[in-house]
Amino acid sequence: MGAALLETVDVHKQFGGLAAVSAFDIRVEAGEIVGLIGPNGAGKTTTFNLITGVYKPTRGKVLFDGRDITGMAPHAITRLGIARTFQNIRLFRDMSVLENVLVAQHMRMGTNLFEATLRLPSYLRRERRIHERARALLAEVGLDAHEEAKATSLPYGRQRRLEIARALATEPRLLFLDEPAAGMNPQESVELMEFILKIRDQFRLTIVLIEHHMQVVMGVCERMYVLDYGVTIAHGTPEEIQKDPRVIEAYLGVE
Ligand SMILES: Nc1ncnc2c1ncn2[C@@H]1O[C@H](COP(=O)(O)OP(=O)(O)OP(=O)(O)O)[C@@H](O)[C@H]1O
Ligand SMILES: [Mg+2]
Repeated sequence: MGAALLETVDVHKQFGGLAAVSAFDIRVEAGEIVGLIGPNGAGKTTTFNLITGVYKPTRGKVLFDGRDITGMAPHAITRLGIARTFQNIRLFRDMSVLENVLVAQHMRMGTNLFEATLRLPSYLRRERRIHERARALLAEVGLDAHEEAKATSLPYGRQRRLEIARALATEPRLLFLDEPAAGMNPQESVELMEFILKIRDQFRLTIVLIEHHMQVVMGVCERMYVLDYGVTIAHGTPEEIQKDPRVIEAYLGVE
């Protein structure tokens, strides 16, 4: 086995009396697409929040590229190269499609107020580069014809792609997608699968994906982890997961 890009060691998250995540050990190697599945309330989104710095683990460690990032602030984690999308799409509602991507790029690069106020050539050059890159990203996700549209005027599937473009604008190595196919029709879901594979190769990404849509997870993920009530009940290839009795029980329930 190669070195892990992401590794969590015995991560727990307690919300009052609720153990939302217990003893979470995930190991993801560079270039992999790994799925995270489980029934509603299983703790999937919480694991993303723990890794991306939204929550601090009650105990345990999060390692990114061998570095301990446990409890670091979200913006610092973004800068190290981890990006995400959200289960409930979070876009700047009143901004255009292009502006949504530009904001994310500025988060990554930081803006020098002195340069910006004086509009120095260095600032203008950099702004031009940022715009070019934002347009290129929008072209990659098939939204270049909609640059000027208000983000929230886009149909749902396109808003999801915009959110992914915005995540890519921060130049991540590791990308977390929280239910990217939610609300998509079967045709859009199939396109999304192809899209995920394409961006993985093109941007040399490692991807962790939460998804209820089984066709999507089984179609793109090489390995999967299954959570139930905060506990990892199985991990393995899609074939192994599909016939795991504990997984079947968690999904179908038993009398
Ligand atoms: N900030 C919070 N405070 C208290 N409880 C929380 C908080 N966030 C999540 N929980 C609880 O932790 C458990 C896991 O929630 P989480 O959102 O991680 O589940 P999930 O697997 O993503 O579910 P879904 O498939 O519905 O998105 C749930 O019982 C949820 O109510
Ligand atoms: Mg969730």
